Amino acid sequence: MTAAQRPIGIFDSGIGGLTVTAAIKQALPMECLLYFGDTLHVPYGPRSLEEVRAFSFAITEALLDQGAKVIVIACNTASAAALRSLREAYPDVPFVGMEPAVKPAVEHTRSGVVGVIATVATFQSALYATIVERFAKDVTVLRQPCPGLVKQIENGDFDTPETETMLRGWLQPMMDANIDALVLGCTHYPIVRPVIERILGPTVRVIDPAPAIARQLQRILDRDGIRNSQLTNEPDLYFTSGDPTSFLRMMERLGLDGFDVAQGKWENDGTLTLP
Ligand code: DGL
Repeated sequence: MTAAQRPIGIFDSGIGGLTVTAAIKQALPMECLLYFGDTLHVPYGPRSLEEVRAFSFAITEALLDQGAKVIVIACNTASAAALRSLREAYPDVPFVGMEPAVKPAVEHTRSGVVGVIATVATFQSALYATIVERFAKDVTVLRQPCPGLVKQIENGDFDTPETETMLRGWLQPMMDANIDALVLGCTHYPIVRPVIERILGPTVRVIDPAPAIARQLQRILDRDGIRNSQLTNEPDLYFTSGDPTSFLRMMERLGLDGFDVAQGKWENDGTLTLP
C-alpha cells in the first residue's frame, strides 16, 4: 500500500466528529477513513484539559498503529487540549485540528457582536484565547458554554422539546445582545443546527467550520503528496469505545449508511486497542 492509499484517522469524544467526517467524505471521496468515537468517555467538555490530552495521545497512537497517514482531531475540546503537544510529540505526522471559527464570524458581522457556543474546556484553553485576541479586536465575542448539550445529542435527542428549551436558554441572551453570527465551536452542535436556526431566525448566520476543515485537510494531503487519487476498495472503518450497535444507529440517523462499527477497548494502562 502506498502512503497515499493509507487511511485518514479521525477522532472525537463520540458522534460529533461525524459532522466533520461527512464534510471530509464529500470533499475527498477517494479517501479511506478510520474513525474513533470515544463514547465511553463522552463528554470531554467538563473534563480537565490534561485528561483530554491523555485520551488524545492514546487515540492518536492507536490510529497510527492502524496505518493512519494523517490525524484529524474532529473535536474542538481535544484540539484545544492536545493539538499543540501532539504536533510536538509527532513531528512527522500531519495533524488537522478544530478551532472555533471566530474569524469568519468577525468578517460577517455588521452589528459588531458575535456569539460562540462551545464546551467549558474549549473556553478554558489557551487556543481559544489566542483566536479571540487575533481575530476579534474590534468585535464583541460573547461566549456561551452549553453544559449537558453533548449528552443530549449522544442520547439521540436531536430535536426534542427539551433540547429546544436548553438551546433557547443559551441563545436568547445572545440574541438580546444583538449577535448576527453564531459560531458552532463544538463538532456535536451541527447535529442540532436545525433547532438552533429555528430559534435564531434568518438574521443570524450560523457558522460550522467543518467544510473549511475538509478543505484544510485537502491542502495538507496535497502539500505532502499523500492525497489518494484512485478509488480504493478498502471500506471505511468506524470504532467506538461504547456500544457499536447504538453507534451504528446514530451514524445512520446522520446519513452515514452501510458501514460496520467495531469496539475499541481502553486498557488499564491507559492505552487504546483497536481490533
Ligand atoms: N465534539 C466535541 C467538541 O468539538 C466534544 C464535546 C464533548 O465531548 O464534550 O468539543
